[in-house]
Amino acid sequence: MKKILAICGSTRKQSVNSHILHHIANQYAGKAVFTLYESIDQLPHFNPDLDTDPLPATVIHFRQLIEDADGVVICTPEYIFSLPGSFKNAIEWTVSTTLFTNKPAALITASSSGQKAHEALNLVMKTVGVQLGEKGSLLISAPKTKLTIDGQVTDAATASAITELMDDFLSIL
Ligand SMILES: Cc1cc2nc3c(=O)[nH]c(=O)nc-3n(C[C@H](O)[C@H](O)[C@H](O)COP(=O)(O)O)c2cc1C
Repeated sequence: MKKILAICGSTRKQSVNSHILHHIANQYAGKAVFTLYESIDQLPHFNPDLDTDPLPATVIHFRQLIEDADGVVICTPEYIFSLPGSFKNAIEWTVSTTLFTNKPAALITASSSGQKAHEALNLVMKTVGVQLGEKGSLLISAPKTKLTIDGQVTDAATASAITELMDDFLSIL
């Protein structure tokens, strides 16, 4: 089975973005092997001076997970009309590599509004070279009205949009 790395852009324990990634991992459990990366807060602040041997252990681990994955799914909130700093920091740790070049990806923004972060997510991930399918990305606005507090996706349109995105993503792996 193909290996998928699911990167959560939120550091919150009860994160709705984390819930969406768990929903996807459960739904596609028989079709791919998912590794959830919910540790962006463990990465140090990116500094080009630190981007040299020996690399911080958490960075080595993060890069290895990307390298080993056949594709990545990202789900992130919007903070102050942009990507959360912790998530952007994680991506900055890959800029000196080619790890995302031609890596199949599915991009999700789940946030109260989320439009600006969604644009940024598409721009940033295309800039580091990911390959998107026809659907490519999905914006889920007001996600807290579409999932239960324990992460069940109750909104049928949202569940169906996630399935469309993921089916398209799996077809390009
Ligand atoms: C510091 C901060 C800034 C935020 N800024 C925005 C924003 O600009 N746009 C937006 O849609 N939501 C914003 N939100 C609300 C988040 O969308 C909401 O808290 C979301 O549930 C966070 O995702 P999570 O549940 O995965 O942590 C902000 C939340 C925080 C904590």
